[in-house]
Amino acid sequence: MYSVKGLVDSGFHQSAIPSKFIIASSSQEDDTVLSQEEAIPTIDFSLLTSGDPVQRSKVIQDIGNACRDWGIFMVINHGVQEKLMDDMVKASKSFFDMSEEEKGEYNGKQLFDPIRSGTSFNVLVDKSLFWRDYLKVHVHPHVNSPKKPACYREISQEYCKRARDVASELLKGISMSLGLEENYIDKAMEVEFGSQLLVVNFYPPCPQPELAIGMPPHSDHGLLTLLIQNQLGGLQVLHNGKWVPINPLPNSILVNTGDHMEILTNGKYKSVVHRAMVNNKANRISIATSHGPPLDKVVSPAQELVDTEFHPIAYHGITYREYLELQQSNELNGKSCLDRIR
Ligand code: SIN
Ligand code: FE2
Repeated sequence: MYSVKGLVDSGFHQSAIPSKFIIASSSQEDDTVLSQEEAIPTIDFSLLTSGDPVQRSKVIQDIGNACRDWGIFMVINHGVQEKLMDDMVKASKSFFDMSEEEKGEYNGKQLFDPIRSGTSFNVLVDKSLFWRDYLKVHVHPHVNSPKKPACYREISQEYCKRARDVASELLKGISMSLGLEENYIDKAMEVEFGSQLLVVNFYPPCPQPELAIGMPPHSDHGLLTLLIQNQLGGLQVLHNGKWVPINPLPNSILVNTGDHMEILTNGKYKSVVHRAMVNNKANRISIATSHGPPLDKVVSPAQELVDTEFHPIAYHGITYREYLELQQSNELNGKSCLDRIR
């Protein structure tokens, strides 16, 4: 089996999923999932760029609070065209609809290969398999794209560029919310030459969704992740010890903090732990772009956010490349990767 989609398409119509997809019950059943009463913060992006200083400083404060209290927020009025986002979802669906043979070109590739596709997270170390296929493309500083479907390159290039613009504007706001100058993160992280990784997740319908998981609890490696999806819920974030299901508004972009935000801010803005659940009704597609420093950049906490008395340095410096290797060659497990550099 190359993919979960392949398994589902192969005429597997049993009501029981193969045992290798059954996750330990503690990963899913024992914890509390809140209903919808908790809502993540909403950030009106247009207020950041409107030129009105009062509105701008208010929204910067909101972004800071969202990063500190949640690590995830929903961005509206971001200026990325709805059609482009729809096209990106459709083109991604077409990628997964290709034959196993066509997708096979990108199978079994290594972490720093420009394009790779596969299933689960890291099949060499995953204790059980996740109900998820993926396509991962390094899209910046070097542009890459699968050759097929034919439309993919143009659409993904355009979408990823727009996502970088949104991320870069948000990073300005985040810098200011920390009392730093607007371009602080941009300069400190060399964002202009930074690494952007496109991760497309494809979760086919699962006949026993309560026994399987799409993505286990984890935090993301970069500074910020932007996520769009095909309007099917599944994402949950850990907030004050409880899982909160996330149902974003149509046309919004979800933004979450990653481990490099936590490292850079010396723990002030922590990376958020999240997971993806599966459903038994329809394909769910989510498209994440992870925005980080250049791969060979050594990242350590900003000096401005460190003092020996109250905020001693909490993480030691490591290149982003080493960090990615550490995270991706191990089991995906909460914040265990970040714990290794404390
Ligand atoms: C991820 O954590 O990258 C996937 C999240 C999702 O599918 O919503
Ligand atoms: Fe993630």
